[in-house]
Amino acid sequence: MAGQDPTLVWMNGEFVQWDEAKLHVTTAAVRFGSRIFEGMRAYWNDSQEQLYIFKMEEHLKRLAQSMKMMRMTTDYSLDDIEKACMDLMTKNNVREDVHLSPSIYFGEGEALFSYKPGTVEVGAYAVTRPRKTILGTGKGIRVCVSSWTRISDRDVPPRIKAAANYQNGRLAAVQAAEDGYDDAILLNGLGKVAEGPGACVFLIREGTALTPPVTGGILESITRSTLMQLLEEQMSVPVVEREIDRTELYIADEVWMCGSALEVTPIFSVDKYPVGDGKLGPLTAQLQTEYENCVRGKTPKYLDWVLPIYSS
Ligand SMILES: Cc1ncc(COP(=O)(O)O)c(C=O)c1O
Repeated sequence: MAGQDPTLVWMNGEFVQWDEAKLHVTTAAVRFGSRIFEGMRAYWNDSQEQLYIFKMEEHLKRLAQSMKMMRMTTDYSLDDIEKACMDLMTKNNVREDVHLSPSIYFGEGEALFSYKPGTVEVGAYAVTRPRKTILGTGKGIRVCVSSWTRISDRDVPPRIKAAANYQNGRLAAVQAAEDGYDDAILLNGLGKVAEGPGACVFLIREGTALTPPVTGGILESITRSTLMQLLEEQMSVPVVEREIDRTELYIADEVWMCGSALEVTPIFSVDKYPVGDGKLGPLTAQLQTEYENCVRGKTPKYLDWVLPIYSS
């Protein structure tokens, strides 16, 4: 497999061809969006001829937390899902970077408000997904602060990685695109910076990295924790989790978004205010390199963050 999406999909314990991995239109996940999922990446290391899944354990732990909050149970254990994800890589002979997504959803025959344990289905697939900002190109994005408010723990908790939550992010992302921006940053109900439609936000001010707290209306991002550790341990940059005002985005020295999909995506302007001098900032650039090295299993100190797929 090279340059094309893996053809096998894992569905309810079986590997099926991509075209056969279908759901009925009456499935609860389709009708009501009652589905939780994870999104992670597997990275190919050319010199080692090895594929690494990045922070698999953390993603599975968050999947379990999403299930618990949604009162979903399945017959498949986290170990089963982990094995399915690994098998998905080997059976598809994945030898390039892919985006990998296991999901758990209420299946056919389930009612919207059903409470009793019912038909819960599982699946996992992988796709080749272009990276938004390729390392070394010096590219960045232009974002706006959205007029949409980030969902909150009081109504639709962003801590749950539920498909339905993404309608909030989609409204912001689509509006941003209509208005000529690459992406959006949402504020929470208190008017403080929350996150992007699919990523967390960091700022650099006076040499300190700032990021909203996990109680600020954000997904508890695995990349966010990774970068906090890299900033402190590899780059000696202090990190402070605190509420962030919208106008701090306008005067920050550097701003970036981060996530398994977006990795470290530099932001060059917010609401058309240039960030710093409107180019790739030095700390963002260094962090991109640190991140790239650890996800590809090139930083010995962080080898326990990556799960090798092929036996050497
Ligand atoms: C809304 C939202 N915030 C943040 C993130 C980043 O989370 P992670 O770093 O765990 O991928 C994502 C990506 O999954 C997301 O969808």
